[in-house]
Amino acid sequence: MSKPTIRVLEDLQQVAAAAADEFVARGNRAIQHHGRFTVALSGGSTPKSLHTILAERTAKNPKLIDWSRLQILFGDERHVPPDHADSNFRMAKETLLSKVPIPEANIHRIRTENPDAGKAAEEYDRELVQVFQLKGEDQLARFDLIFLGMGPDGHTASLFPGTTAVHELRKRVVANWVPKFNMWRVTLTRPVINQAECVLLMVSGKDKTQPFAEVMGQGSPDVYPVKYVQPTHGELIWLVDKAAAGSSLAHAG
Ligand code: 6PG
Repeated sequence: MSKPTIRVLEDLQQVAAAAADEFVARGNRAIQHHGRFTVALSGGSTPKSLHTILAERTAKNPKLIDWSRLQILFGDERHVPPDHADSNFRMAKETLLSKVPIPEANIHRIRTENPDAGKAAEEYDRELVQVFQLKGEDQLARFDLIFLGMGPDGHTASLFPGTTAVHELRKRVVANWVPKFNMWRVTLTRPVINQAECVLLMVSGKDKTQPFAEVMGQGSPDVYPVKYVQPTHGELIWLVDKAAAGSSLAHAG
């Protein structure tokens, strides 16, 4: 496990611009190296600016990246149909996927219209098996890049403090009941997240200052599950704006 890179940037726009730079550079490198780029998008509000920047840069420069070589997946999904206002897929579609020349077949969403969240998780696991050509139940998908955010409660993807998914070490995808939302989520598990070539965490806003300080300091990973994000043989990059970083920079190293 290598030391994480922590970059503190002025504001959300700069966090998103830096994330877009990483997306393009890593994407082009992956395509050159193994012919495709597998990336997991995240939900929440922070990634919207990243998506917008990627769509704008592509409009200005169609050669920015060969979208036909991308395989787009998702780190987690809310238990709603794809046209629901809370759907992470819907957000990604509106802000990015409908604006770039990516073949429909290269978009792998989590089918949370399934009334059984557990079945939706199993179905998404089969999607991983197919996209990554996995052999057997134990083989982990190795994404080129996984985007994640951090909630004010220290959750990431849909690994919420005190929920069972935080301690799932066998399955690749699980349905996770989140009492505080009274709702199911479907999420990639720690082993898959930590198998990635690179995990990029985007964190912005004042409501993240306290959890960010805990995560950089002595906070327990069971209380702040984002602390369990530790790629075993990949990179971890934090892109944090000044509001979220607050004064915890001294601990950031
Ligand atoms: C989701 C997410 C979630 C998100 C964080 C941060 O579906 O909500 O994937 O893990 O990344 O809650 O969200 P913000 O970017 O809105 O702060």
